[in-house]
Amino acid sequence: MIVIISGTNREGSLSSVFSNALNELYQEKGMDSKILELSHLPTETFSPNAYTEKPPAILEFTKDILNASGLVIVVPEYNGSMPGALKLFIDLLPYPDSFEGRPICYIGIASGQFGALRPVEHLQQVFGYRNAYNFPKRVFVPAVHNVASHENGITDIDLLGRLSDQAEQFIQFCRSLGKLL
Ligand SMILES: Cc1cc2nc3c(=O)[nH]c(=O)nc-3n(C[C@H](O)[C@H](O)[C@H](O)COP(=O)(O)O)c2cc1C
Repeated sequence: MIVIISGTNREGSLSSVFSNALNELYQEKGMDSKILELSHLPTETFSPNAYTEKPPAILEFTKDILNASGLVIVVPEYNGSMPGALKLFIDLLPYPDSFEGRPICYIGIASGQFGALRPVEHLQQVFGYRNAYNFPKRVFVPAVHNVASHENGITDIDLLGRLSDQAEQFIQFCRSLGKLL
């Protein structure tokens, strides 16, 4: 299964728009896929004892991460990095099984011109440390409000083509690592 992480807990996020579009793309390509929506994490996730007493929603999400043949992360740029909620989610997952040898694919979205290069590279550093397989073909989306909205989804045809090519190649990458049949 391909698991898509919508990388912020912000209500009404554009990351959800991208996650939905990617979910459809992977399913059109014959993959089982699902979205982990960080805005569904309960407030206990942010409690100091969440590291020892994992909230049930985290345990549910953990099962999906551990069963994933590949992870696709949609990350928005917040203050030159990833959202704090995404880093906290990563920190609450079991070590080392969650990411060891797991293929990971990145889509960065931002209002600014750098298209979330910074949070994607921060994540690649984190997951490099965790011995994941960073898929090298990344998609960066600058000026995201010009190409996507809740009303119309992703409206840029060229961008949809790049996301489709990335998905196709990520599936091959997972297969070449023996993660997908
Ligand atoms: C807390 C916060 C910090 C942000 N910081 C940046 C930033 O450093 N650079 C940038 O280009 N955009 C920044 N933005 C704009 C977001 O990248 C942009 O609005 C993106 O759509 C947010 O994704 P979301 O809709 O999934 O939350 C920030 C937005 C928020 C809410």
